[in-house]
Amino acid sequence: MSDLVGKIQRLKKEKKAIILAHNYQRAEIQDIADYVGDSIELSRKAMQEKEAEIIVFSAVDFMAESAAILNPKKKVLLPTLGARCPMAQMLTTDEIKRAKALYPNAPVVLYVNTLAEAKAQCDICCTSANAVEVIRSLDAETVLFGPDRNLAEYVAEKTGKTIIPLPEWGFCPTHLLFQPEDVSILKKQHPDAAVMVHPECSSEMRKTADFVGSTSKMCVYAKNNSTKKFIVGTEEGLLHRLRKENPQKQFFTAYEGAVCPNMKLNTLDRIYASLKEEKYLVKVPQKIADKARASLERMFQVN
Ligand code: 13P
Ligand code: SF4
Repeated sequence: MSDLVGKIQRLKKEKKAIILAHNYQRAEIQDIADYVGDSIELSRKAMQEKEAEIIVFSAVDFMAESAAILNPKKKVLLPTLGARCPMAQMLTTDEIKRAKALYPNAPVVLYVNTLAEAKAQCDICCTSANAVEVIRSLDAETVLFGPDRNLAEYVAEKTGKTIIPLPEWGFCPTHLLFQPEDVSILKKQHPDAAVMVHPECSSEMRKTADFVGSTSKMCVYAKNNSTKKFIVGTEEGLLHRLRKENPQKQFFTAYEGAVCPNMKLNTLDRIYASLKEEKYLVKVPQKIADKARASLERMFQVN
């Protein structure tokens, strides 16, 4: 065990802290985390946590914010202040108000990749793991959905409902990097490989896929599938977990450069500093938190 890992473990015990890490975190962070998961799993873990006094949330802003909203009694720390998801910044509350005025009868469903003030304005949240089920659960044929345009198109295909994207062109800059041409090249090299892609990828990318799903759903698919090789269309951090859980299988990224720079801002050094100085404390104003919690809890009732 390295010195730094030992120091983190000691501080964690001393301060009654746990580390929750997203599937896109650096390998060395995943290896010391108490729990590694996708955004819904991490939210659920944070919500249900009883013992710990501190939750170090190694991911990006909106995920740590959801944890703070769902379990307001805990100190939730984001190790890097600048770890922000650019997609979550793409939807403003003004945009939501404008859309609501245009479509007063359409419910607003927001991807958890949004800021707390946006969540406070919606009817229900969803993640990539349950977006289809959330939309199906609504008694409405037209739904306002944001901020990811690709996920909006994916749920429209799956549910047959009219999905109006909010804003018109919200996207993830990392998932935008995947191109079907790269999958074709890899498929020529590994014709027996199964292709898994995240729904934040373009529709062209989704067409190349044997499986479309959230990061943790890809882990389940890879584990349960008898196929030995997989081409993976999501941020490269997931490959560490996939390889660890399936040492007898092979995983290839669909694009070497698919790195989310925001997720990768967290390092072991920053986790240590975060624990030591109890920074950066995630705070959400009470009024906003209460409304955002209601939107998140409605999601948990669906699935
Ligand atoms: P997951 O919920 O699938 O982990 O996705 C979160 C995310 O930010 C994808 O880019
Ligand atoms: Fe945001 Fe994309 Fe990074 Fe996910 S991969 S946190 S959507 S920028």
